[in-house]
Amino acid sequence: MSSLSILFATSEMAPWVKTGGLGDVAAALPAALRKAGHDIRVLLPAYPALKQAFPTATTVAELPAFAPGLPISRLLAAQAGKLELLLLDCPELYDRPGNPYLDVTGHDWPDNARRFGLLSRVAARLGQPDSPLGWQPDIVHANDWQTALAPAYLHYQGGAASVVTVHNIAFQGCFGRDMLAALGLPEHAWRFDGVEYHDQLSFLKAGLQLASQISTVSPTYAREVQDEHFGYGLAPLLRHRSAELRGILNGVDTDLWNPATDPALVTGYAANRLAAKRANKAALQTEMGLEVTADRPLFGVISRLTSQKGLDLLLTVAEGLPELPAQLVVLGSGDKLMEAGFVELAKRFPGQIVVKIGFDEGLAHRIEAGADCFVMPSRFEPCGLNQMYSLRYGTPPIVRATGGLADTVVDVCEDTLADKSANGFVLDGDTPHALWLTIEHVCRTWQDKKLWQRIQQNGMRRDFSWTHAANEYVALYRDAIATRA
Ligand code: ADP
Ligand code: GLC
Repeated sequence: MSSLSILFATSEMAPWVKTGGLGDVAAALPAALRKAGHDIRVLLPAYPALKQAFPTATTVAELPAFAPGLPISRLLAAQAGKLELLLLDCPELYDRPGNPYLDVTGHDWPDNARRFGLLSRVAARLGQPDSPLGWQPDIVHANDWQTALAPAYLHYQGGAASVVTVHNIAFQGCFGRDMLAALGLPEHAWRFDGVEYHDQLSFLKAGLQLASQISTVSPTYAREVQDEHFGYGLAPLLRHRSAELRGILNGVDTDLWNPATDPALVTGYAANRLAAKRANKAALQTEMGLEVTADRPLFGVISRLTSQKGLDLLLTVAEGLPELPAQLVVLGSGDKLMEAGFVELAKRFPGQIVVKIGFDEGLAHRIEAGADCFVMPSRFEPCGLNQMYSLRYGTPPIVRATGGLADTVVDVCEDTLADKSANGFVLDGDTPHALWLTIEHVCRTWQDKKLWQRIQQNGMRRDFSWTHAANEYVALYRDAIATRA
């Protein structure tokens, strides 16, 4: 089959700008599609980190002010390995310290509508027949609300077929009606079947309404978002568009997340060389100031600390861990109350519970390798990458049966042990008590070293590469082109 040209539009991309899993996906999926022979370019804002990383990026287009609320900008091209990046340079909007979405005090940048309106507008502009690059993609692939207005521009102004992928429906990008004209959308777009949503301009709703095809990042989440409880108000629209909605499970970058070759670890290991994982546990205990012991299971957490991730359940029961006995290491940041709760907990149990508030890529790798069990009791989880990293690192996860967690983690029981699929532990319910019972179950199971090793190996041997997902995206793109036609 013929190869496709694809514009992948994103608001973050690892390793340069990453606040969560979208950054990982924006690096790995385009690379997998490139490897499969497709002509893919990644569009993202020229944040300071990217300008520093690519000082020789060249200007490939000067862009006009597209609308009263949008400044002039330009496109820089940079080569990241085999991938071509298009950096949207507009210092007024993107040359800022810190997080792409939040100011230093943790509040949304007040001009986010313009910042991501411009990103969406440029994505759509490149998808038009007279694209200023002289290169026109067959597909504009938008990701989450920050680029979800691109399908709306393409719908009203003409151009390529479009796809929007929902990585997290809880974030929708809703702004006042005044932004309609400011962002250059036509007056007639203000309709229930246009960009309007409860008298606001909703970027994500616009994309879900007007994209040629829609995807979410796991099959279970694709079903869940059609349900009121998970859909954050958009369930009726997604039910209406269910024929164009599918779930494609994320992969993981198996080069970056490979316990055999990971440069962040003291020693590599593999499914048939698991003994070396112990040295990583001792090294992690030393690094974090935990008592160095092989006799207690060590639970690990790496997460945004938000109610989505269900870590309040852990906070409620964690004081029982040292008694069990078990240890806990937490790496995360987010909700200030939750951060304070974990810090307080660590103070009470020095040597047994340790917490690091912040974002630390290397430490994240060492926790995956050094912990015995990973805790991720999310209330909802569109896909989740950390449980997959854990499975690859022989660190069976504890999860709730939701979204991508349900699609990747198989609870340990007689049947699943027999068919070699058992690879983790699934909570029965969503209460602190349910988590506690599972933690006790894990501790008992961990004592049986042979059984534990079987569970580790089942997880480590599963294929989480991007190859399969990349093929599914190509099918989605072809359907989008057919839908558009
Ligand atoms: P989400 O995108 O909802 O935060 P995912 O599991 O999909 O959840 O992806 C989270 C990504 O961010 C993973 O790569 C994880 O290792 C990383 N991550 C989250 N918090 C931290 C942190 N405090 N330090 C380092 N990496 C983190
Ligand atoms: C979002 C979701 C997470 C998913 C990631 C990448 O941040 O919360 O579950 O893995 O996007 O698709």
